[in-house]
Amino acid sequence: MIHNIKWFDSIDSTNSEAIRSFQNSEDFSIFAAKYQTSGRGQKGTVWESDQEKNLTFSIILKSNNIKAENQFYVAQIVTIGIKRYLKSLGIDAKIKWPNDIYVEDKKICGILIEHFLSGDILSGTVVGIGLNLNQTKFNSNAPNPISVASILGKELDLDAELNNLLGYIHEIYYLFLNYRSSSMFSRLDAEYHDSLYRLEEYHQYQETPSGEIITARIMGVDSKACLLLEQENGQTKRYHFKEIKYIL
Ligand code: BTN
Repeated sequence: MIHNIKWFDSIDSTNSEAIRSFQNSEDFSIFAAKYQTSGRGQKGTVWESDQEKNLTFSIILKSNNIKAENQFYVAQIVTIGIKRYLKSLGIDAKIKWPNDIYVEDKKICGILIEHFLSGDILSGTVVGIGLNLNQTKFNSNAPNPISVASILGKELDLDAELNNLLGYIHEIYYLFLNYRSSSMFSRLDAEYHDSLYRLEEYHQYQETPSGEIITARIMGVDSKACLLLEQENGQTKRYHFKEIKYIL
Protein backbone atom coordinates (compact mmCIF):
# COMPACT_ATOMS: atom_id res chain seq x y z
CA MET A 1 0.00 0.00 0.00
CA ILE A 2 1.20 3.53 -0.75
CA HIS A 3 0.73 5.72 2.30
CA ASN A 4 -0.19 9.39 2.33
CA ILE A 5 3.08 10.70 3.83
CA LYS A 6 4.11 14.33 4.15
CA TRP A 7 7.84 14.66 4.91
CA PHE A 8 9.39 17.69 6.62
CA ASP A 9 13.13 18.40 6.73
CA SER A 10 12.59 20.17 10.03
CA ILE A 11 9.50 20.88 12.11
CA ASP A 12 8.77 21.64 15.75
CA SER A 13 6.90 18.39 16.40
CA THR A 14 5.04 16.10 14.00
CA ASN A 15 2.29 15.68 16.61
CA SER A 16 1.84 19.46 16.75
CA GLU A 17 1.84 19.65 12.93
CA ALA A 18 -0.71 16.83 12.71
CA ILE A 19 -2.97 18.66 15.18
CA ARG A 20 -2.64 21.90 13.18
CA SER A 21 -3.47 20.05 9.93
CA PHE A 22 -6.14 17.82 11.43
CA GLN A 23 -9.20 19.44 9.88
CA ASN A 24 -7.98 19.17 6.28
CA SER A 25 -6.48 15.69 6.58
CA GLU A 26 -7.84 12.27 5.75
CA ASP A 27 -7.86 9.22 7.96
CA PHE A 28 -4.37 7.65 8.20
CA SER A 29 -2.50 10.74 6.97
CA ILE A 30 1.17 10.68 8.00
CA PHE A 31 3.43 13.60 9.00
CA ALA A 32 7.08 12.58 9.15
CA ALA A 33 10.14 14.64 10.03
CA LYS A 34 13.84 14.26 9.41
CA TYR A 35 14.35 16.52 12.40
CA GLN A 36 12.11 17.86 15.18
CA THR A 37 13.15 21.03 16.99
CA SER A 38 10.76 20.40 19.93
CA GLY A 39 9.88 16.71 19.82
CA ARG A 40 7.39 15.99 22.58
CA GLY A 41 7.48 12.99 24.88
CA GLN A 42 5.03 11.68 27.46
CA LYS A 43 4.41 13.64 30.65
CA GLY A 44 5.77 16.87 29.11
CA THR A 45 9.26 15.48 28.41
CA VAL A 46 11.43 16.24 25.36
CA TRP A 47 11.96 13.52 22.74
CA GLU A 48 15.58 13.33 21.65
CA SER A 49 16.36 12.27 18.10
CA ASP A 50 19.43 13.19 15.99
CA GLN A 51 18.86 14.64 12.53
CA GLU A 52 17.96 12.05 9.84
CA LYS A 53 18.71 9.16 12.16
CA ASN A 54 15.38 7.90 13.40
CA LEU A 55 11.71 7.60 12.55
CA THR A 56 9.75 10.49 14.04
CA PHE A 57 6.26 10.70 12.65
CA SER A 58 2.59 11.06 13.50
CA ILE A 59 -0.52 9.34 12.20
CA ILE A 60 -3.90 11.05 12.07
CA LEU A 61 -6.82 8.74 12.76
CA LYS A 62 -10.27 10.20 12.21
CA SER A 63 -13.82 9.67 10.98
CA ASN A 64 -13.77 6.09 12.12
CA ASN A 65 -16.47 6.11 14.80
CA ILE A 66 -14.31 4.54 17.48
CA LYS A 67 -16.11 4.70 20.82
CA ALA A 68 -14.34 6.65 23.54
CA GLU A 69 -14.57 3.57 25.79
CA ASN A 70 -12.49 1.68 23.18
CA GLN A 71 -9.70 4.25 23.00
CA PHE A 72 -7.12 1.90 24.48
CA TYR A 73 -7.45 -0.21 21.32
CA VAL A 74 -5.63 2.56 19.46
CA ALA A 75 -2.61 1.98 21.72
CA GLN A 76 -2.97 -1.78 21.23
CA ILE A 77 -3.14 -1.50 17.42
CA VAL A 78 -0.05 0.70 17.27
CA THR A 79 2.08 -1.17 19.81
CA ILE A 80 1.24 -4.56 18.30
CA GLY A 81 2.02 -3.20 14.80
CA ILE A 82 5.43 -1.93 15.96
CA LYS A 83 6.18 -5.18 17.75
CA ARG A 84 5.32 -7.21 14.63
CA TYR A 85 7.44 -4.90 12.46
CA LEU A 86 10.45 -5.33 14.79
CA LYS A 87 9.89 -9.09 14.75
CA SER A 88 10.16 -8.97 10.92
CA LEU A 89 13.65 -7.47 11.43
CA GLY A 90 14.51 -10.31 13.82
CA ILE A 91 14.11 -8.18 16.96
CA ASP A 92 12.07 -9.56 19.83
CA ALA A 93 10.42 -6.54 21.44
CA LYS A 94 7.96 -6.23 24.31
CA ILE A 95 5.28 -3.68 25.13
CA LYS A 96 5.92 -1.78 28.33
CA TRP A 97 2.44 -0.81 29.48
CA PRO A 98 0.84 1.34 28.37
CA ASN A 99 2.68 2.09 25.14
CA ASP A 100 6.47 1.99 25.18
CA ILE A 101 8.36 -0.57 23.17
CA TYR A 102 11.27 -2.27 24.90
CA VAL A 103 14.00 -4.67 23.88
CA GLU A 104 15.15 -6.41 27.03
CA ASP A 105 15.43 -3.52 29.51
CA LYS A 106 15.94 -0.78 26.94
CA LYS A 107 13.54 1.55 25.20
CA ILE A 108 13.57 1.38 21.40
CA CYS A 109 10.37 3.31 20.71
CA GLY A 110 8.18 5.88 22.44
CA ILE A 111 4.61 6.72 21.54
CA LEU A 112 2.60 9.85 22.34
CA ILE A 113 -1.13 9.41 21.74
CA GLU A 114 -3.39 12.46 21.79
CA HIS A 115 -7.12 11.72 21.65
CA PHE A 116 -9.87 14.20 20.87
CA LEU A 117 -13.28 13.30 22.22
CA SER A 118 -16.67 14.33 21.00
CA GLY A 119 -19.20 12.98 23.47
CA ASP A 120 -18.72 9.23 23.63
CA ILE A 121 -16.94 9.01 20.26
CA LEU A 122 -13.31 9.72 19.38
CA SER A 123 -13.48 12.56 16.89
CA GLY A 124 -9.84 11.91 16.17
CA THR A 125 -6.49 10.77 17.42
CA VAL A 126 -2.92 11.80 16.71
CA VAL A 127 -0.47 8.97 17.27
CA GLY A 128 3.14 10.15 17.49
CA ILE A 129 5.85 7.54 17.12
CA GLY A 130 9.56 7.94 17.78
CA LEU A 131 11.41 4.79 16.78
CA ASN A 132 15.17 4.73 17.32
CA LEU A 133 16.45 3.39 14.03
CA ASN A 134 20.02 4.45 13.21
CA GLN A 135 21.13 6.54 16.19
CA THR A 136 23.67 4.73 18.32
CA LYS A 137 24.80 7.51 20.68
CA PHE A 138 22.24 9.29 22.82
CA ASN A 139 23.12 12.58 24.44
CA SER A 140 20.25 13.41 26.72
CA ASN A 141 19.62 11.83 30.07
CA ALA A 142 16.99 9.46 28.63
CA PRO A 143 17.62 6.54 30.96
CA ASN A 144 17.95 3.55 28.68
CA PRO A 145 17.72 4.07 24.92
CA ILE A 146 18.60 1.49 22.28
CA SER A 147 18.19 1.48 18.49
CA VAL A 148 17.59 -0.99 15.68
CA ALA A 149 21.08 -0.26 14.28
CA SER A 150 22.77 -0.94 17.59
CA ILE A 151 21.06 -4.34 17.71
CA LEU A 152 21.47 -5.33 14.05
CA GLY A 153 24.86 -3.68 13.52
CA LYS A 154 23.74 -1.93 10.33
CA GLU A 155 21.86 1.20 9.30
CA LEU A 156 18.49 1.02 7.56
CA ASP A 157 16.82 3.39 5.09
CA LEU A 158 14.40 5.78 6.81
CA ASP A 159 11.87 6.01 3.99
CA ALA A 160 11.71 2.28 3.32
CA GLU A 161 11.40 1.45 7.01
CA LEU A 162 8.66 4.02 7.55
CA ASN A 163 6.65 2.37 4.77
CA ASN A 164 7.29 -1.11 6.16
CA LEU A 165 6.28 -0.09 9.67
CA LEU A 166 3.15 1.71 8.46
CA GLY A 167 2.15 -1.45 6.60
CA TYR A 168 2.08 -3.41 9.86
CA ILE A 169 0.11 -0.75 11.73
CA HIS A 170 -2.33 -0.16 8.88
CA GLU A 171 -3.08 -3.87 8.49
CA ILE A 172 -4.27 -4.12 12.10
CA TYR A 173 -6.09 -0.76 11.99
CA TYR A 174 -7.93 -1.83 8.84
CA LEU A 175 -9.04 -5.14 10.36
CA PHE A 176 -10.08 -3.35 13.54
CA LEU A 177 -12.26 -0.85 11.65
CA ASN A 178 -13.85 -3.48 9.45
CA TYR A 179 -14.43 -6.28 11.96
CA ARG A 180 -15.38 -4.70 15.26
CA SER A 181 -16.46 -8.02 16.68
CA SER A 182 -15.80 -9.29 20.17
CA SER A 183 -13.48 -11.93 18.73
CA MET A 184 -11.41 -9.19 17.04
CA PHE A 185 -11.22 -7.31 20.35
CA SER A 186 -10.20 -10.41 22.27
CA ARG A 187 -7.51 -11.31 19.71
CA LEU A 188 -5.96 -7.85 20.15
CA ASP A 189 -6.27 -8.10 23.94
CA ALA A 190 -4.55 -11.49 23.88
CA GLU A 191 -1.65 -10.38 21.67
CA TYR A 192 -1.16 -7.22 23.76
CA HIS A 193 -1.23 -9.26 26.98
CA ASP A 194 1.23 -11.87 25.69
CA SER A 195 3.60 -9.09 24.54
CA LEU A 196 3.78 -7.31 27.91
CA TYR A 197 7.22 -6.45 29.24
CA ARG A 198 7.81 -8.12 32.66
CA LEU A 199 4.64 -10.23 32.41
CA GLU A 200 4.24 -12.44 35.50
CA GLU A 201 7.80 -11.71 36.73
CA TYR A 202 8.39 -10.17 40.14
CA HIS A 203 9.98 -6.70 39.96
CA GLN A 204 9.97 -3.47 41.91
CA TYR A 205 7.52 -0.65 41.28
CA GLN A 206 6.96 2.69 42.94
CA GLU A 207 3.46 3.88 43.78
CA THR A 208 2.81 7.58 43.23
CA PRO A 209 2.31 9.95 44.91
CA SER A 210 3.08 7.97 48.12
CA GLY A 211 6.55 6.91 46.86
CA GLU A 212 6.09 3.45 48.37
CA ILE A 213 8.18 0.72 46.71
CA ILE A 214 6.45 -2.59 46.16
CA THR A 215 7.53 -5.93 44.74
CA ALA A 216 4.89 -7.28 42.44
CA ARG A 217 4.23 -9.02 39.15
CA ILE A 218 2.21 -7.83 36.20
CA MET A 219 -0.83 -10.05 35.67
CA GLY A 220 -2.32 -8.06 32.81
CA VAL A 221 -4.25 -4.95 31.94
CA ASP A 222 -7.98 -4.55 32.62
CA SER A 223 -10.69 -3.24 30.30
CA LYS A 224 -10.08 0.32 31.54
CA ALA A 225 -6.39 0.01 30.54
CA CYS A 226 -5.26 -0.13 34.18
CA LEU A 227 -2.21 -2.22 35.06
CA LEU A 228 -2.91 -5.21 37.34
CA LEU A 229 -0.10 -5.86 39.80
CA GLU A 230 -0.10 -8.83 42.17
CA GLN A 231 2.02 -8.47 45.29
CA GLU A 232 3.85 -11.35 46.94
CA ASN A 233 1.04 -11.71 49.51
CA GLY A 234 -1.35 -12.48 46.64
CA GLN A 235 -3.13 -9.11 46.77
CA THR A 236 -3.85 -7.59 43.34
CA LYS A 237 -4.18 -3.85 42.79
CA ARG A 238 -5.03 -1.85 39.67
CA TYR A 239 -3.16 1.29 38.69
CA HIS A 240 -3.77 4.14 36.28
CA PHE A 241 -0.80 5.39 34.23
CA LYS A 242 0.14 8.15 36.67
CA GLU A 243 -0.20 5.97 39.77
CA ILE A 244 2.74 3.61 39.27
CA LYS A 245 6.35 3.80 38.09
CA TYR A 246 8.50 0.93 36.92
CA ILE A 247 11.82 0.66 38.76
CA LEU A 248 14.30 -0.37 36.09
C1 BTN B 1 7.63 9.07 24.97
O1 BTN B 1 7.87 9.93 25.82
O2 BTN B 1 8.00 7.91 25.11
C2 BTN B 1 6.83 9.44 23.73
C3 BTN B 1 7.72 9.92 22.64
C4 BTN B 1 6.98 10.26 21.37
C5 BTN B 1 7.91 10.89 20.35
C6 BTN B 1 7.24 11.06 19.00
S1 BTN B 1 8.40 11.54 17.77
C7 BTN B 1 7.12 11.89 16.67
C8 BTN B 1 5.99 12.52 17.47
N1 BTN B 1 6.14 13.95 17.54
C9 BTN B 1 6.41 14.36 18.78
O3 BTN B 1 6.63 15.54 19.11
N2 BTN B 1 6.42 13.32 19.62
C10 BTN B 1 6.13 12.07 18.93
